[in-house]
Amino acid sequence: MMKKKILELDRKHIWHPFTQKKNCEDPIVIVSGKDEKVFDIDGNEYLDLISSWWVNTHGHARAEIIKDLNLQAKKIEQILFAGFTHEPATSLAEKLITLLPNKLSRVFYSDNGSTAVEVALKVAIQYWYNRGKRKTKFLAFKGGYHGDTFGAMSVGYSSGFYGPFKDLTLDTTFIPFPETWEGDNKKYEKEKESLNFVEEILNDSPDEIAAVIIEPIIQGASGMKICDPLFLDKVLKRFKEKNIIIIFDEVMTGFGRTGKMFAMEHIITKPDIVCIAKSLTAGYIPLAATIFSESIHNEFVDTDFKKTFLHGHSFTANPLACSVAIASLKIFEKNNVLNKVSQIEKIHKKGLDFLKTNIKVSKTRLIGSIAAFDLIGADQKYGSKIGNKIREQFLKKGLLIRPIGNTIYLMPPYCIDNKTLENVYSILDAELKNI
Ligand SMILES: Cc1ncc(COP(=O)(O)O)c(C=O)c1O
Repeated sequence: MMKKKILELDRKHIWHPFTQKKNCEDPIVIVSGKDEKVFDIDGNEYLDLISSWWVNTHGHARAEIIKDLNLQAKKIEQILFAGFTHEPATSLAEKLITLLPNKLSRVFYSDNGSTAVEVALKVAIQYWYNRGKRKTKFLAFKGGYHGDTFGAMSVGYSSGFYGPFKDLTLDTTFIPFPETWEGDNKKYEKEKESLNFVEEILNDSPDEIAAVIIEPIIQGASGMKICDPLFLDKVLKRFKEKNIIIIFDEVMTGFGRTGKMFAMEHIITKPDIVCIAKSLTAGYIPLAATIFSESIHNEFVDTDFKKTFLHGHSFTANPLACSVAIASLKIFEKNNVLNKVSQIEKIHKKGLDFLKTNIKVSKTRLIGSIAAFDLIGADQKYGSKIGNKIREQFLKKGLLIRPIGNTIYLMPPYCIDNKTLENVYSILDAELKNI
């Protein structure tokens, strides 16, 4: 189909996410991808520096993944997951569990990050209910984002995306998140404030709290905000002592983004529940999982049907998606991908040190494959004009980035060529001078 026709149909029939149609440019028509690049219908190429919304891990059009996907498609593409099971789902569960701390042993599949979180929240509430207790309040960190379904919106309300839904959300208390960056001299003050806040809550009403949810170490959608893992350990220990269920939302951080397979490996205290999605399938097919400790799962195993978790999705544990996730994990092992992530981290470090000399750059921060900084003097709000302007300016230079307010970040697929990534920093430096 011609570009003109595609755009005509798009304008007429498509409703794009996170997009204000009134003043947006026509979208770019993408026709293909290869490794860290995607190509548009006019033959322009773009470096996918945000892994297509943080999902692509090993690059686009990976032959190994396509092969396993094809093989599975020839066997069975979909089967309901109540009363049936299959090898891709069971093998994947086994592989995930060997990668996670041994406490986490039960996998519940769903379709995306929001549903993985929704499952975690519902299970937390029903876990207490099955034990004869009514606990429906949640704790979360200010600015955290957990998805767009109602439960996820509730615990992510302070991220600022959900104005129209105020008053329709679950009761959630938001703990100050002590974000920090290189050269930050207020780190300890912020951590203290946060710890004091937690103590107050724990003194007040710990018995009503079903669970606490956190994006471990780095908050993504609120602007790649990082806290110290040692701080997290301190608060998490307190929640543990009070018997509050701990949920880690590793939807963004999972699968190597922070330099370890899961961000929880940077932290001593382990969660009772973990949510994964995005890179689980390397960006090829939607799939998510919420993984529970055996003791949580046991509260649902009973002769009383009322204790069953009555929740599920049509595509739960889709065999194609599970086979792709297994193919992705094979690449992690075979190509020692975490080693490549540490090379990326080193390039980011050098690049950020270089960018720090640019007068427009502040608050540089880095963990694993994620590097971020803020633009001094720019509007911090999500969807700000400056963010869109920068995005368009960089697209013209062949760099696919998507600032969050005044935060620019890089999170490339792990297959990115080292020299290519080094070069990105020179382009960034030159272009920022033109803003
Ligand atoms: C930490 C986190 N949790 C949950 C979600 C929601 O995931 P999805 O967009 O797949 O529903 C996101 C999405 O960006 C996320 O970053």
